[in-house]
Amino acid sequence: MSAATVEQLRSAPATPAAAAAPTDQQVQQYLRTGLRNRWWPILPSRFVETGGKPLGITRLGEPLVLWRDSKGAIHVQADRCPHRAVPLSRGINEGDRLRCNYHGVEVGPDGKVLSVPGQPGCPLEGKLAVKTYPAQEIAGAIFVWFGDALHQEPEAFDPPAEITAPEYSSFLCYADWEMPWRYAFDNLMDPMHGTFLHANSHTMYQGETQAHFVTRDTPYGFFFEKAGQRDVNFDWSELVDNGALYVRLEIPYPPAGGPGGNFGITGFGTPIDEDNMCVFFWRTRKVSGWQRDTWRFLYKTNIEKRHWHVLEQDREILAGLKPGLEKYEMLYQHDAGVIRLRRYLAQQARKQLADLQAAGKL
Ligand code: FES
Ligand SMILES: [Fe+2]
Repeated sequence: MSAATVEQLRSAPATPAAAAAPTDQQVQQYLRTGLRNRWWPILPSRFVETGGKPLGITRLGEPLVLWRDSKGAIHVQADRCPHRAVPLSRGINEGDRLRCNYHGVEVGPDGKVLSVPGQPGCPLEGKLAVKTYPAQEIAGAIFVWFGDALHQEPEAFDPPAEITAPEYSSFLCYADWEMPWRYAFDNLMDPMHGTFLHANSHTMYQGETQAHFVTRDTPYGFFFEKAGQRDVNFDWSELVDNGALYVRLEIPYPPAGGPGGNFGITGFGTPIDEDNMCVFFWRTRKVSGWQRDTWRFLYKTNIEKRHWHVLEQDREILAGLKPGLEKYEMLYQHDAGVIRLRRYLAQQARKQLADLQAAGKL
């Protein structure tokens, strides 16, 4: 190719200045309220009653109002009245709409203003003025699509068989934790802590206290597993990111745990805000027929309280961490799962930020 002449160079259109790539600091800040463009569980279904009072909560840093209409359908909307922005969760569930308590403005389940009783015919009437989130209920929890400005339409989410398929039986365990959401994910991708932190539990006292870990790719994430030890202790975790972000793991049960396959956890952790989160741990077991009933009975009468105790051990140790302490970490081979998870989340966040920046949506 011949060299460009000075004239050609002078007449060439100026290259638009490339948007600066998101910095590491921006990426970490963005991640503090969670990745967008995913389904996140926000609350157990049973917390919202049909026709009952609207409920105000915060998830991913966004104030939400949850309510069930008189037919039982769940609705999740921005918790702000379109008039003066007071929380709609302080309003009244009219069965097919919410009525703000302040001046009586009524909002439908699609976010449309249905009535401005103080000034009928006011231009606000008929406006789609309240953000409405795509919501669905899966295995006893309300899941919501949090899309960024480029992804308002939800993607499909194929929930894990362990919490939906009839050959499994599960219990949902929900709790609020005062810590950044990523601590729960770090913890789930760190199987080795089971051998130590939970050494006195009924399921995690067996097997080697030393291990070498390997990672294995899957279409939607990766496995982090002990080389040479399976079905003995908490020997592997799998990160899955297929429309929602969660971790699967299994721990074998001793005979006292009753009939059925390994005990499984399908764990989600949803940011409330930058410093708080809620965990959704489905305790699952592949079990059917009379064995299913036996296990469910055993779980309720005997095993559940032990599981809460184990979960409390996790919560208690993680609550001692604070953002910024990472700089003191000296990680070793067992932390390869945590390192890979963090790198993955940062990549995803960086991409979302860059796409928003390129589209001028930041
Ligand atoms: S603030 Fe809701 S009706 Fe006025
Ligand atoms: Fe744990």
